[in-house]
Amino acid sequence: MSYLQYFTKPIDETIRERTSCRTYKDKLLSQNDKKELLDFGMKLNKGIRTEQIHYQLAEFSVEELKERKMSAYWLFKNLRSFVVGMIDKTDFHQMSYGYAMEHIVLKATELGLGTCWAGYFDPRAIEGIKIKENHTIPAIILIGYAAEERSVKERIARFAIRASKRHDWSKLFFLGEFSKVLNAESAGPYAEVLELLRLAPSAGNTQPWRIIKDKSKNIYHFFKKVVNPSYERKKLHDIDIGIAMCHFELGAAHRGLRGKWMQADPQLTGLPSTMHYMATWIHDT
Ligand SMILES: Cc1cc2nc3c(=O)[nH]c(=O)nc-3n(C[C@H](O)[C@H](O)[C@H](O)COP(=O)(O)O)c2cc1C
Repeated sequence: MSYLQYFTKPIDETIRERTSCRTYKDKLLSQNDKKELLDFGMKLNKGIRTEQIHYQLAEFSVEELKERKMSAYWLFKNLRSFVVGMIDKTDFHQMSYGYAMEHIVLKATELGLGTCWAGYFDPRAIEGIKIKENHTIPAIILIGYAAEERSVKERIARFAIRASKRHDWSKLFFLGEFSKVLNAESAGPYAEVLELLRLAPSAGNTQPWRIIKDKSKNIYHFFKKVVNPSYERKKLHDIDIGIAMCHFELGAAHRGLRGKWMQADPQLTGLPSTMHYMATWIHDT
C-alpha cells in the first residue's frame, strides 16, 4: 500500500520540482492550502512500523520568530509557518518520521508551496505546542509561499553544500555487495525509481543512503552510511533514510511496482563501522 492515491499530479514531476525554500513571501498559508495539507496529514497518521503520528501547523509573525531566535534564522527570510509532526517515541521513530513528513513535503510541493526541512531549530520555535508524554518532534518543516528569487544568503548556503547536486549512482547503488556498482540495466523497472530516490533532500545534502539490490531478485536493502557524526548523533541520517523510502515507494507505486518494507538484513560481512542496515523493500511477486 502506498499513499500515491492522495496525490493529484504525477509524482515524478512533483519530486523533480521540489527544492528547499528558505526565502518566503511574508504571507500565511491560505485557508484552502491549510485544509488540503492538514486533510492529507490525517490520512498519513501511521509511520512505517505503525507509530502514531499527527501534525500541527504553527503560525507566527516575522517579529515573533526573531524573538524566539529560530536557529539559523539569519538564513531564512519571511518565515511564518512550520509543520510540526509529533510521533510515538520508539527505537526507529526517526526513520518513520522522515518517511511520513516527506509525504507532507511532496503534497505541499504539489500545492505550489515552498518547504525546507529543519533538523536544527531552537526549541523556543515550538514553544506552546502541546505534545503527548510519549511523543517527540524530531525535526520540523518550514513552509510558505516561495519569494520570486532566493536571497543572496540562501544562494551562498546552497552553493556551500552543493545543494543542487547529487552523488553518482556508483556511490549510492550496488548489486549484491558494496564492491559491485548497480547499473540502470540491472535495476530494470526500478531504475527510474532509484533516480527519484537520488533526488531526495537530506540533512546538509549528505545523501547517506546506500542501497544494495539482491543479485537476482527485486529486493532492495537500504543502508545508512554515517557521513557526518554530529548529524548521526541527532539521528538526522535516519530521517534521511525515511525520506528516501518515501521517494522510492511513491516512485514504485507510480509504475505499478508493488512491494513492502520488511526487516531482512542480508548479513553482509566486512562492513565498515559507519555502515548500518536499516530496511528492505521486497517486491511482490
Ligand atoms: C533531515 C533534514 C534536516 C535539514 N535541516 C536543515 C536545517 O536545519 N537548515 C537548513 O537550512 N536546511 C536543512 N535541510 C535542508 C537540506 O540542506 C537540503 O535538503 C539539501 O541541501 C538538498 O537541497 P534541496 O532540498 O534543495 O534538494 C535539512 C534537510 C533534511 C532532509
